[in-house]
Amino acid sequence: MVTVNENYLLLKSSYIFSEINRRVEDFQRKNPDADVIRMGIGDVTRPLPSAVVEAFHRAVDEMAHEETFMGYGPEQGYPFLREAIAENDYASRGVEVSPEEIFISDGAKCDTGNIQEIFGQDNVVAVTDPVYPVYVESNVMAGRAGPADETGRYSGLVYIPCTEENGFIPALPEEKVDLIYLCYPNNPTGTALTEKQLAEWVDYARDSGSIILFDAAYEAYIQEDGIPHSIYEVEGAREVAVEFRSFSKNAGFTGTRCAFTVVPEELEVPDSQGRMHSLKELWNRRQTTKFNGVSYPVQRAAEAVYTPEGQREIRESIDYYMENARIIRESLESAGLRYYGGVNAPYIWIKTPEGMDSWQFFDMLLNEAEVVGTPGSGFGPSGEGYFRLTAFNSLKNTVRAMERISELSF
Ligand code: MLT
Repeated sequence: MVTVNENYLLLKSSYIFSEINRRVEDFQRKNPDADVIRMGIGDVTRPLPSAVVEAFHRAVDEMAHEETFMGYGPEQGYPFLREAIAENDYASRGVEVSPEEIFISDGAKCDTGNIQEIFGQDNVVAVTDPVYPVYVESNVMAGRAGPADETGRYSGLVYIPCTEENGFIPALPEEKVDLIYLCYPNNPTGTALTEKQLAEWVDYARDSGSIILFDAAYEAYIQEDGIPHSIYEVEGAREVAVEFRSFSKNAGFTGTRCAFTVVPEELEVPDSQGRMHSLKELWNRRQTTKFNGVSYPVQRAAEAVYTPEGQREIRESIDYYMENARIIRESLESAGLRYYGGVNAPYIWIKTPEGMDSWQFFDMLLNEAEVVGTPGSGFGPSGEGYFRLTAFNSLKNTVRAMERISELSF
């Protein structure tokens, strides 16, 4: 008899952003004239940079001619893109990452979700709380998390709270953990770690033999000095960390799909007999079996992000979104709401008003201001009592949304 993977039955009934969409659609059905402004999912709104679009077009034209047509590409990505990344994202910052350590993919969501496959079933997984749900749910699906309690806390995972009380700085775990997911600048709190704070984690991983899975999808939003753009800026990180990057948030690729994962040569993990294995080889093995690479035109489009024109244009978009973040922060301040983030990240993390939980605040903003955000509880038990807004909408909509919120009384 066919049976299901029962680990899936341990998941919440829907993914947080699907649940929000469902509620917003329901609201719109009942209020067809509502002018809803979406600041929930972290999806960009600015079009692709023109340098990217031109490269994309040229590559599509190449696909139209026998002499320049491209079939399957390398599963790891084309050398032209891997080299551009190694040079521009790493070497130019004095960080050593070789093109061979870079794996191009169709998203950091897929890579952060898939990476757990190459680790043993018994590894203890630690996540900061609140957290991007993909890290948790991919481990639930794999059977590492066990059942959840009524707050959504899985018994088999180690949660590291990041709240107002600790200034959103995760404390090193007291118990032994093996895999540690860190996302900095952070989704959802919008906060960042300094190099010194991140170095504590790298040292911890080196001392305890754990591996850090570092999601740097928002690094382009860093405005302040002293905040690492890559975990490899921290000494010793190459021996303990995998890094995930994305073209989604910096260059508008959420609908185009391109990202990459860095697995350094030095990263080795033992099997049950104590023999060491290269994680880079295992990830390569996984990708060659399960993935056929990102399309050629998309990789050419991503390469154009690194041209001077591409860099100028992506900087403009990031500045645009960070201006939205500034407007959101100032409006929340005037509305008397406490908030965090929005300085080195496109997310603003609001403390819900006294006596209101995350979903109640969601309903209030949707019903009374027609503004959609994300309830903090959707990101984990310590997200309860918080609410996330993104700076990714248009300037016009951001201003309108904040005017509406300013008219509410909390
Ligand atoms: C978010 O809203 O947290 C992000 O858009 C999710 C993602 O990048 O997959």
